[in-house]
Amino acid sequence: MYEMKPEYLTNIPLIDEEHQQLFDYANQIYDLLHQEFIADKYDNIADILGKLRDYTKKHFADEEAYMESIQYKRLFSQKVQHNAFIQKLEEWDLESIDGSDNQDATIQEMLNFLTDWLIHHILELDTQIGK
Ligand SMILES: [Fe+2]
Repeated sequence: MYEMKPEYLTNIPLIDEEHQQLFDYANQIYDLLHQEFIADKYDNIADILGKLRDYTKKHFADEEAYMESIQYKRLFSQKVQHNAFIQKLEEWDLESIDGSDNQDATIQEMLNFLTDWLIHHILELDTQIGK
């Protein structure tokens, strides 16, 4: 399961809480991946992806507003990464798993992408904001 580790903390409460919520979405995807008795996971993954897209936009808007409020120097590189991530989530092709008998492969791919991105982005960029 994915959880916030001490090294992921920015020590900005709102940002840390929102990062925790993003990890919770990763955990929902993980749980879905390991559900053996759902024959068709399309509706479930579409539901989680929809919520993840909305929440991600809210989180990035909050984080960017905070960075602006402190006139943070690396705001631009943050925005570039945020926009690329939103784009990737928007483009995620769920049609390919509708009716597929290999849905778990796509769900695993989504989970890997999400957790890799989150961990790298938080460790390399977001933890700098609090410093
Ligand atoms: Fe960020």
